[in-house]
Amino acid sequence: MQKQFFQNASHELKTPLMSIAGYAEGIRDGVFEGEGARMGLDIIVNESGRMTKLVTEMTLLAKLDSEADVVQPIVVRIGELLTGAAERINPLLAQRGLSLDIVCADHAEDELAIMANKDKLLQALLNVLSNAARHAARRIVIEAGMVDGRVVIRVLDDGKGFPDALLPHLFHRFVKGKDGENGLGLAISRAIVERCGGLIRADNQASGGAVISLSFPQSAA
Ligand SMILES: Nc1ncnc2c1ncn2[C@@H]1O[C@H](COP(=O)(O)OP(=O)(O)OP(=O)(O)O)[C@@H](O)[C@H]1O
Ligand SMILES: [Mg+2]
Repeated sequence: MQKQFFQNASHELKTPLMSIAGYAEGIRDGVFEGEGARMGLDIIVNESGRMTKLVTEMTLLAKLDSEADVVQPIVVRIGELLTGAAERINPLLAQRGLSLDIVCADHAEDELAIMANKDKLLQALLNVLSNAARHAARRIVIEAGMVDGRVVIRVLDDGKGFPDALLPHLFHRFVKGKDGENGLGLAISRAIVERCGGLIRADNQASGGAVISLSFPQSAA
């Protein structure tokens, strides 16, 4: 698995590196000038941004793989977690004209709490939410509540849903759709959720849109 990971990773890094090197050389040698050079510089900036994100994601995954104590669990209140996630994803939603509703089932405030690493769990949720923001048509809903004694968070969007062929492999590293980026976001989310003692799964709703469900053992707050 480690070998496969490095093979995929170096392949994914080579593509942006090749276009960065290509445009940089082209500009240096005067092959691209004026508008062409400007376009080349834009590509260099975009591709380096993409590489930075890729390296950040790979580093996080490697840490999750190796460090035993990477998750130092504390009591996390789901209400606070969701509000924090919504605040961070808001600019992206505004940019895309999307609405976000948080629906917390009417439980005692203390009931919806779990043991987890809060920052990591926020990251896991933001990965799911940024996917939803990319694929939603108009609306994202986050539902939280108790199901069979477990704390469940569901993120639903009204987009086209996961391609059927991708569904069984979504949480594997470097698995992405035609419209995808690095294919690491959901692999990271799964690693974090499982490290926190939870489960994550992906489905399509009857109405078509995607739904990601996270479930955790309940913790007394
Ligand atoms: N809400 C969604 N609706 C439809 N398809 C989705 C949704 N979320 C993810 N996908 C599909 O699942 C693939 C894997 O998602 P994942 O988050 O792991 O990778 P990514 O978004 O492509 O890249 P990264 O998150 O690393 O930037 C995506 O490429 C996309 O095709
Ligand atoms: Mg993603």
